[in-house]
Amino acid sequence: MSANRVQPKLIIHGGAGSSLKGKGGADAVRKSLCAVVEEVYAQLLSGVTATEAVVLGCQLLENDPRFNAGTGSVLQSDGQIRMSASLMNGAKQSFSGVINTSRIKNPIDLALFLQDSDDRVLSDYGSADLLRELNIPLYDPLTEVRLQEWIQERAGNFDKAMAGVVAERELVTEAGRGTIGVVALDAQGHLAAGTSTGGKGFERIGRVSDSAMPAGNYATAQAGVSCTGIGEDIMDECLAPRIVIRVTDGQSLQDAFWKSFSEAHQHGRDLGAIGLDATGAIAWGKTSEVLLAAYHNEDGMGDTLDADIGLQIGVA
Ligand code: GLY
Repeated sequence: MSANRVQPKLIIHGGAGSSLKGKGGADAVRKSLCAVVEEVYAQLLSGVTATEAVVLGCQLLENDPRFNAGTGSVLQSDGQIRMSASLMNGAKQSFSGVINTSRIKNPIDLALFLQDSDDRVLSDYGSADLLRELNIPLYDPLTEVRLQEWIQERAGNFDKAMAGVVAERELVTEAGRGTIGVVALDAQGHLAAGTSTGGKGFERIGRVSDSAMPAGNYATAQAGVSCTGIGEDIMDECLAPRIVIRVTDGQSLQDAFWKSFSEAHQHGRDLGAIGLDATGAIAWGKTSEVLLAAYHNEDGMGDTLDADIGLQIGVA
């Protein structure tokens, strides 16, 4: 490897929230996450850019009906699916995204297109117009499991804070926080971060998710972070830039995660995040019970599914 090439790194997540019901659930999630890490890391080794790797990872996670993004997104209070996604190219420090978009298979594709646009964040009507302009085929991301969850919740008058973290055949009994995210460091030493979600589930029409805001997805030349959890908690902590700016100001990624998650815990927040820095350090953190994350640190793959319940940060 030439002197100016670095070893790629990758971390992804499939949400955070209450513990998965059974070991079977955790094993199935691990299998899904590891398959994505394997495919995307192979692409990073073959020389794709961090942005390309992040988009591929988000597409694969959006396509997995288990996770709350793309196919398998949760329904809002009126029974409609509205998805949000964002992409941040760390080398260019450029953010793009879509808010409450509908009838598309991969919302991250719109965020990618908008990277090169003068208008880089579009909401519902604008994103629908863009879909038509790009001739992207209409797609219904609804799954039977999510529909049944919504019907059950409607019967209970939507008393849960959020929909289940992952779609399960047997409906989840506790609230969870689903979102997907990917952070990559490519062989050129460039970082990118992407995040995509169906939202909290059962929310008021027009509610805006953190996933299409810098608060939930942020990257510079120094570090990149993707968040998951209750969007309002993530916004209140301004979590992704809080961690990234601490790294830019000289803290290690691990210290930046520890300080930011200690503060979030003190404030009673329910959230998680994954991150990478330009030196190749990998970190994750959570205040929620579980964080569904997996990574490749060049020595091999690992995941966070067996982490202790509650506040924790980890490095890989
Ligand atoms: N973090 C996803 C949401 O609250 O919409």
